[in-house]
Amino acid sequence: MSKEGLKRNVGYRAAELVKSGQKLGLGTGSTVYFYLERLGERIRTEKLDVVGVPTSVQTMEQAMGFDIPLATLDEIQEFDLYVDGADEIDGQFRMIKGGGGALLREKIIASCSNQKVIIVDEGKVVSRLGSGFALPVEVVPFGRRVCENRLQKLGCTPLLRTADGSPFVTNNGNHILDCRFEAGIEAPERMEAAINDIPGVVCCGLFIGLADHVLVGKNDGSVEERTRG
Ligand code: 5RP
Repeated sequence: MSKEGLKRNVGYRAAELVKSGQKLGLGTGSTVYFYLERLGERIRTEKLDVVGVPTSVQTMEQAMGFDIPLATLDEIQEFDLYVDGADEIDGQFRMIKGGGGALLREKIIASCSNQKVIIVDEGKVVSRLGSGFALPVEVVPFGRRVCENRLQKLGCTPLLRTADGSPFVTNNGNHILDCRFEAGIEAPERMEAAINDIPGVVCCGLFIGLADHVLVGKNDGSVEERTRG
């Protein structure tokens, strides 16, 4: 099955979890796109009464295209359901996020959500975080070099993310350092704390304790549902 097919399967399945009356945190990414597509369909055909707060400008634009009613975080600060993708997830539901650059807003909104559902394809389930994907760290542009030096001391190789030859700029006006750990990340909790301690770091792409349910799209077309024990 194609990658897109896997993403559609999990995105559509997640959209079935939505109930009328809910306040929704809307994640970001190509998997979330399908969630939004199906959610828009359900709103139209079943007259679901929901409102969502997007985690990025990209999601805001996609949601508007699907006629999903939106609000801002100034208006709503508690969500019934949060649905988002991930770049890697391990057996303890610890994740790397930020491949799409929306990690800060994602972490804020996930932390305000009662039920957090993560949608991934099976290629993103790993035994050790960081073994395949570089860890995104959002930093303020002023402190970028200092952050790079300190991150290197934590055992990784940080690389400034670029777009069209210029530094990539997040929706918050910051930069992203993609940190490659040769042997993966041995102790994600400790690493997250150490990275958060660096002045200039705005958000670390390690998401711990921010997933309750995981929907895994399998190559055979099925969707496996896992719940945090
Ligand atoms: C954006 C994210 C995304 O959830 C993550 O990158 C997965 O995206 P995709 O579904 O496109 O693979 O963290 O900041």
